[in-house]
Amino acid sequence: QLGLKTETFGHFVHFEEEVASTQKIALKLAYEGAKEGTLVISELQTAGRGRMGRKWFSPKGTGIWMSLILRPPIPPQKAPQLTLLTAVAICQAIQQVTGIVPDIKWPNDILLNGKKCVGILTELQADPDRVHSVIIGIGVNVNQTVEQFPEDIRTIATSLAIEKGERIKRARLVQEILLQLEKLYHQYLQHGFRPIKLLWEGYAVSIGKKITARTLNGSIKGTALGITDEGLLMLEDEDKHIHYIHSADIQL
Ligand code: BTN
Repeated sequence: QLGLKTETFGHFVHFEEEVASTQKIALKLAYEGAKEGTLVISELQTAGRGRMGRKWFSPKGTGIWMSLILRPPIPPQKAPQLTLLTAVAICQAIQQVTGIVPDIKWPNDILLNGKKCVGILTELQADPDRVHSVIIGIGVNVNQTVEQFPEDIRTIATSLAIEKGERIKRARLVQEILLQLEKLYHQYLQHGFRPIKLLWEGYAVSIGKKITARTLNGSIKGTALGITDEGLLMLEDEDKHIHYIHSADIQL
């Protein structure tokens, strides 16, 4: 019923009306051997997970809450590349469906007018030298009105409908996200991360700017120089030391 145009992505779909988290289900399915391209999607998440231990607000029927299982033949250090790849694919899909060009804030927030509209959470099952599966969790705020966001996040969160001024068909956007994701993923497996990195830089807002990176171990202030070939953020602090950052929140 999603009308997919992909070769493999989304050809096994686990649809549920209500789940705690699609991410949790996808991790379990991956562990049990589910094929690459398996998609878990739900109308409502009661315990949607965000990055850095946060919650992801996932009310019924207004957004896209889904997790995709990939099995790329890569070592675990390269997994952050897939997060960046996913962000590019989603930007392309949003552009295609709504005409709006989003911004990416490293590593994986997608912003419209400076407010977050999409979150991506990548989780791994891996040995030190080989990835078994990567679970790509995607949350897109599609049709929420301002009032439907909890008050404490209204100044930082938005939906496509708010920015576009009209409702958007979720199935159409799911199709397009999976299509763009599959295309980029094949390109990535054939040609590596370089071409994806260039596309990513085209959408990125934080590069070249003074930012504060809040990591789990404290904050670092400096200039965002760019990303490495692995997908880490290079941040030059006031003493000209370069920090390579795996995971953080960025403030512009
Ligand atoms: C972030 O913190 O920005 C990442 C949010 C990721 C949310 C998605 S919604 C589908 C999938 N299931 C979850 O529990 N989380 C991800």
